[in-house]
Order: sequence, then structure tokens, then C-alpha cells
Amino acid sequence: VAASALRDAFPVLGQLAYLNAGTDGPLPAAAVHAATRELQRELTDGRAQRHFERRSELSDSLRALYASLLGCAAENVALTTCTSEGISLVLAGLDLAPGDEILTSDEEHPGLLGALAAARDLRGVSIRAVPMTDLAAAVGSHTRLVACSHVGWVSGRLAPAALAAVPVPVLLDGAQGVGAVPVDVIALGCAAYAGPGQKWLCGPDGTGMLYVSPELRQRLAVGRRGYANLEDPGTGLEAQLHPDARRFDSLALNAETLAGALAATEVLQAVGWAEVHERSRRLAERLVEMLAAAGREVAPRGPTTLVSFSSPDPPAERLRLAEAGVVLRDIPNRPWLRASVGAWNDEHDLRRLIDLLN
Ligand SMILES: Cc1ncc(COP(=O)(O)O)c(C=O)c1O
Repeated sequence: VAASALRDAFPVLGQLAYLNAGTDGPLPAAAVHAATRELQRELTDGRAQRHFERRSELSDSLRALYASLLGCAAENVALTTCTSEGISLVLAGLDLAPGDEILTSDEEHPGLLGALAAARDLRGVSIRAVPMTDLAAAVGSHTRLVACSHVGWVSGRLAPAALAAVPVPVLLDGAQGVGAVPVDVIALGCAAYAGPGQKWLCGPDGTGMLYVSPELRQRLAVGRRGYANLEDPGTGLEAQLHPDARRFDSLALNAETLAGALAATEVLQAVGWAEVHERSRRLAERLVEMLAAAGREVAPRGPTTLVSFSSPDPPAERLRLAEAGVVLRDIPNRPWLRASVGAWNDEHDLRRLIDLLN
């Protein structure tokens, strides 16, 4: 799939230099068509047994596709509505008590910090934050879990590879990882990996995935149960959870959202993941060069798709850029704007940004 054909799949790119996939990816037309087809079917055929079978078929397909992206078996992947939900499921399911510590980094997103604060407030766990690069060495005798980003949202730094060898389970927040950079949950050595469908996979809002290793699955309590995650819901109070990761599924995944996520992810899959990752990484590096030439300081980063750079007044500059059709975000409490560079972007998008910075 040529770069121009990929761009044509995303109507928003015809108008905007859209550099905001770290918040929400551009939607491909195919996703909107797929979702509309499901709603139309529901409109005309109603929502009886066949409808529930359809939801289940779509779930199976999406789970298999997400599993292939994470490098694991589908039975180890739950379907969620966002990254934050997957993170909360893991933290809420662990047997944690006062005296236990969760180790995290000092550049985490509210999607993880909220769940950590809940563990502190509701279970008396202590939370210790250290710089990302120090995480592996900072594991101590009270540490029960390391929870941090796979790719940091502020600067685009990668979690240290040494985390694969720490003696406690690692929960990775993959909001800026999956779809943006290669992910192999086995090589990463993580016990859990939570990711979104709506960012770098360009799906609708309300989509996500959670990988849980078979070992961690045995240890996680499941506090929410219902028709969708029970193996035999007809048996009433005796009903058992699905034996695999479906036990962590969100309880109301709808056909239109599932179909939209599947279609969006397939648009990128058709390009080939290696190509998607390589194109966006190269383009992000190109932006780094262009920013440096334009006199903007680029924040320390990794080989990822995020590029944060200095701005004299980030919220005001973001607004000014948006009015001129260049979409990116500012980072709260940092003097930076952040551009998210995807395989669907091109040099012209970057040029539009740079020309507005001078
Ligand atoms: C690192 C990180 N974690 C979590 C989130 C929250 O993601 P979601 O909306 O999928 O829960 C984001 C979103 O921007 C993020 O960048």
C-alpha cells in the first residue's frame, strides 16, 4: 500500500495536518462504513439471537487481531473500552494490602495514576515514583508490582528493557505503544499490557485490549461478572468465569464499535505492521530534524512516534496552530507541544507545522 493510498483512507487528512494520534487517531472511512453497516442491520433486523451471535463473532475477530499485534495467543487478550480500564482491572484484581508497594515512574499519565491512587486510597498500598531509567534497579523488598508506560506519553521515551528481568510482575501502560511501535509482550516480559484501540490503531472511541499472562490470570480476582464474561451464565450463582482472558472483557461491547475497530485496524494491517512502524518512526525523526532547524528544542525521546518540543506558550500556540489546520496537543505542566506522527502522515504535514512555528 503506497503512502498516498494510505492517506486516502483517512478523510481528515484531506483538510488537516493531523498530528494527534497520541490522543485519538484519525478515523479511516472504512471504520465508519463498517460501524454504520452494523447499526443499519440492527435498525432493520432488530437485536435478537443473531445479533448476539454477530457481537460474539466480531469480538473473536478483534481479539485475534489484537493478539497478533501483541505477539500472544488470543486466549490471553481481553477486550476493553480503553487503556485505563485494563489498567484498573489489573490493579483492582491484585491481592494488595498496607505494607505493599507499587513502583512507577515519574512521567505517567492520569490513566495509570488514577488507578494507582485508587490502590493507595482503597487498599493502603504505597506508591513510589522514580525516573523511568531507574525503574528496574529501584525494585525493593516491598515492591509487589511495577506499573509504568511502555512508551512515555510526555516525551515518547521507551520503558527500560531491564524490566523484563525484574522479580515482580510488570504492568505496562501501552497507550502510546501498540500500533505505534512493535510490541511483543513475551519479549517485554510483562505480566500485563493494557492498550487502546482508538489511538494508534485508529479505531472508534471505546475500544481497547488487555493482555494478561496465564500466570497473572490465576492470581487476579475478577470483581465484575455478568453475562459477557461468564462461561455458563445460565447456571445462576454457580456460574463460572470464562477460563481464559475473556473473563476480563468489558461487559457491554457493542457491534458497531467492534466492527469499526476491526475495520480500522485492518486498514493498517494491509500496509504491514513493520512498514507502519518504520514509516512513522522515520517521519518522527524527520520532524526532529526540521524542529531543530527551526530553532525549537526537542525533548529527550526514544525511537517512537511522539515528538515533544519547546513552545513559548504551549496552550496558546496549540490554539493558533489548530486554527491554521495543524492539530497537536500541549503537555500540561511542561513547556512543550507534542506532535504524534503516524504512518498516515507525510512530509507535507510536517512542513505545515514547521512553517507555522516561525
Ligand atoms: C500513557 C497513557 N496512558 C493512558 C492513557 C489513557 O488512554 P485511554 O483513553 O485509552 O484510557 C493515555 C492517553 O492519552 C496515555 O497517553
